Amino acid sequence: MSQKPAELSGLQQAFQYPRLKPKATPELNKILISEIRESGPLPFSSYMAQCLYHPKLGYYARAEATTVSKKGDFITSVSVGPLFGQLLARRLHRFWLANGSPSHFTILELGAHDGSLATDILTNLTEIDPAFAAAVSYVISEPLPARRNFLKTRLGDKATLISHPDEVQTEIGALVANEVLDALPVPLYLFSKNQWHEVLVAIDNDDNLAWDTRPASPDLPLNYPEGYVTEGVPDLPTFLTPLAQCFKKALYVWIDYGLDQESLYHPARTAGTLRCYRNQKSNAHPLDFPGEQDITADVNFTAVEKAATKLGLQAHPVMNQSRYLTYCAKDWLLANPDQKGIQQFQTLTHPSQFGNRFYALELTKGDVTRAFP
Ligand SMILES: C[S@@+](CC[C@H](N)C(=O)[O-])C[C@H]1O[C@@H](n2cnc3c(N)ncnc32)[C@H](O)[C@@H]1O
Repeated sequence: MSQKPAELSGLQQAFQYPRLKPKATPELNKILISEIRESGPLPFSSYMAQCLYHPKLGYYARAEATTVSKKGDFITSVSVGPLFGQLLARRLHRFWLANGSPSHFTILELGAHDGSLATDILTNLTEIDPAFAAAVSYVISEPLPARRNFLKTRLGDKATLISHPDEVQTEIGALVANEVLDALPVPLYLFSKNQWHEVLVAIDNDDNLAWDTRPASPDLPLNYPEGYVTEGVPDLPTFLTPLAQCFKKALYVWIDYGLDQESLYHPARTAGTLRCYRNQKSNAHPLDFPGEQDITADVNFTAVEKAATKLGLQAHPVMNQSRYLTYCAKDWLLANPDQKGIQQFQTLTHPSQFGNRFYALELTKGDVTRAFP
């Protein structure tokens, strides 16, 4: 059967392009254009990977930029204040206690960014339990060299910096990752003329970045409306396999915005969830400002659970951040916290703020007591 070219209008509606020329052309734009001219259009996931993780010009490689903060492009639960880290420290302490208070316990953080979450967790360990503080080794896995250098300067010897999680081999520990899964490069798909197409990034006659497609067969049904655009699953096996092998026994805490598979691929969600952040505003122009704005997509929690289960991990029910942090905060709330802390708690858990948009997924490995209701 001959493949019909896709009708791009659905894609143009979801992510208008070409647009007015940005005033400044990011340096990465030029690199991408010459790469596409030489080797042909890039799958969207490769484009997104370059935009976020190009070793020098990627959005997350620019260690000098205040990208994730109240002064930057977007905020996270960590930006709300130190309470988020304090409550996660309490969560990990409970797990440590329930599993026999081992004398060595590794906390592995991913996506440590500017080191704020690490600082907030580490600062509270002694107050929570000096024996826990003494047992903990804090390790940050950060693939980008510029960011590793930045974190080394900020954290000194409080944390060990590694470039890949396969450098960790330990008996028991925990992984903490806030808003990391949403930053993994995803493929983008367009449903047109009764078939799926993978979205590519090409160049037009004026040497601007532009959309293109090629027929594809993602693991999705074939009953979507013309022009339906959605993102696929990131390469979870490659990402999760080394993490599953780091520990013999572990708790994994993933916090992120996301959906289950059914909601994510609902026919009414015609433009998927891919979006960009720049100057505290979201936009639908991923081809603008490559390397100078965040590109993100909601996490498909069902896919993460499935991939983790395949690797021998146990997935526990996803719950919203409101419920999750309220449980983590039980002892803290009973200890008469100050007003500043209460305000942070409200922001982190209120349904109209961080409470109902973010979810926690816990995974465990090995014969452990999870210590969660
Ligand atoms: C949205 S930021 C999260 C910032 C921080 N955790 C917070 O909550 O404020 C996403 C981070 O995930 C990091 N990241 C993406 N893939 C990663 C990987 N494979 N290993 C470690 N970090 C990764 C990015 O470099 C970036 O710093």
